Amino acid sequence: MCGIVGYVGDRGSLDVLLGGLGRLEYRGYDSAGVAVLDAEGHLGTRKRAGRLSVLADNLIAEPLPDGATGIGHTRWATHGGPTDGNAHPHLGDDGKLALIHNGIIENFAELKAELLAQGDEFTSETDTEVAALLVGRAYRETGDLTEALRRVVARLEGAFTLLAVHRDQPGVVVGARRNSPLVIGLGEGENFLGSDVAAFVEHTRRFVAIGQDQIVTIRPDSVEISDFDGNAVEGEESEVSWDASAAEKGGWSSFMAKEISEEPEAVRNTLLGRVHDGRVVLPELDGIAEVLAGIDRIVVLGAGTASYSGLLGKYALEEWARIPVEVELAHEFHYRSPVVNERTLIVSISQSGETMDTLLAVREAARLGAKTLSICNTQGATIARESDAVIYTHAGPEVAVASTKAFVAQAVALYLLGLWFAQLRGSVPAERIAGVLDDLSHLPEQFQEVLGVEEQIRTLARWMSDTRAVLFLGRNVGYPVALEGALKLKELAYIHAEGFAAGELKHGPIALIEPGQPVFVVVPSPRGSAKLHSKVVSNIQEIRARGARVIAIAEKGDAAVLPYADEVIPIPLVSPFLEPLLAVAPLQMFALELAAAKGLDVDKPRNLAKSVTVE
Ligand code: G6P
Repeated sequence: MCGIVGYVGDRGSLDVLLGGLGRLEYRGYDSAGVAVLDAEGHLGTRKRAGRLSVLADNLIAEPLPDGATGIGHTRWATHGGPTDGNAHPHLGDDGKLALIHNGIIENFAELKAELLAQGDEFTSETDTEVAALLVGRAYRETGDLTEALRRVVARLEGAFTLLAVHRDQPGVVVGARRNSPLVIGLGEGENFLGSDVAAFVEHTRRFVAIGQDQIVTIRPDSVEISDFDGNAVEGEESEVSWDASAAEKGGWSSFMAKEISEEPEAVRNTLLGRVHDGRVVLPELDGIAEVLAGIDRIVVLGAGTASYSGLLGKYALEEWARIPVEVELAHEFHYRSPVVNERTLIVSISQSGETMDTLLAVREAARLGAKTLSICNTQGATIARESDAVIYTHAGPEVAVASTKAFVAQAVALYLLGLWFAQLRGSVPAERIAGVLDDLSHLPEQFQEVLGVEEQIRTLARWMSDTRAVLFLGRNVGYPVALEGALKLKELAYIHAEGFAAGELKHGPIALIEPGQPVFVVVPSPRGSAKLHSKVVSNIQEIRARGARVIAIAEKGDAAVLPYADEVIPIPLVSPFLEPLLAVAPLQMFALELAAAKGLDVDKPRNLAKSVTVE
């Protein structure tokens, strides 16, 4: 939540800041603001409630003198509503210092009381202003921005990335982080800071991820990192594997549409280099392979879409690896007394690698002695760095708030993990493993075929644009797809939607069926399990008998479904574990088309942010 950009160099920073904020707007879009400092020490700030475009228009109408040092912020409101006053930057040291923040300062109330008692005045309701005033005071005492920030972070509790500039130190941006992300972009004669690499990838692909409890000072020709105690830290340089064009909308109507179209590619890239001679090769696990040989339980953690791909992974891991798997929402795991030990493997799933709920759950599991493996899409993200091992999904940048291609790539990574374990434990014959891998290698083309149902989905969505509630049913691996289909619809079209395990129907949900109620049903292939298939067809008959309007997502040529479905969305013939990956795409498209039919912003649904970096 909240996107942060910092720049020092030899050109006007406003363009860099606005460009970076544009790429980070998925992190929050309640307000935006910038602070710009020129070589003579003129500090200008501008901030506006609303989307970045409101700020950008304002800067055109009333230009702000540019400078080669600057910080910028796009906000997802936590403390204080989305107003101009609560927008960042906030000022300290009598307006000589500007500061932006991502996170929540949990002890802000007592710090605020202290500052009020000392005569400070507040102009906002934010927790951030406390930090701005404290850093301002510390600057007056130290005369150095890095030292001032170091003093203040020692007093803050909670999660924060802070960036600050001071009028007396042109050419310097200082950042500090605890529990919220911050990366440095390394340029030639210029340097950048950002919540993630998207903030500066248009200028440089070289980056250094800043560790927990560290401070960074960037100048045009230098980058200094230290810990909160002042000890110098050596940063590790990496390179972003994609370029700026990958994070552009291109000719697509929305990032989400573009990202769904990239699903075949996401599958291909996640498989790339990981299959050799009918076997899975995951060198990422070499370092912990010995421990993995001794684990007796897996706990999968994630939030939102990631938790549903995790559920899909459970079916695959148990089937192939024969290891008991539990899937849990990270935030629920964290706040009970989870029973894990050194024989437990925690598999955390996170597209961003920054979701606070997931990060804290991983830390808690590690504290309890469990081994941690993350499945992550963003290079250098905190969860990836704090885990014992990471399997990166190479889905490319995902910008739309609603996750799509990441879900598919996460499932592929989990399948690879399941097959890897099966190799390790000898739980599945080598030919069967080779067979699944071969099926996976054909998945991208089959995806392409599924994406061809777009027109059918669009028509359906238009027809359903007044619908007030939609139900989704699935069994076995179709169940996580039903949950994900419902989540997408809630997120994007603001329609009440619920996903149910079809077997649960008669235990309650069937009471919701009344004439005309639309129900999407994910139908398993009769070739996989005839029993499962016939159970789902029976479920369809049961809801149809009560007037439901049935939209079945079924294998092409599944004649048993036709008499009972009002609409059939066909998917190609694939092996049972691959069906859910193909079945989810039409549901993603449906949510997108319905939101578009209602005139909603598909990429930036209300109240949401892509990367939830606060609890
Ligand atoms: C937010 C996003 C979801 C995403 C979830 C987990 O809720 O809106 O789209 O699935 O976070 O995000 P992660 O980055 O951990 O996968």
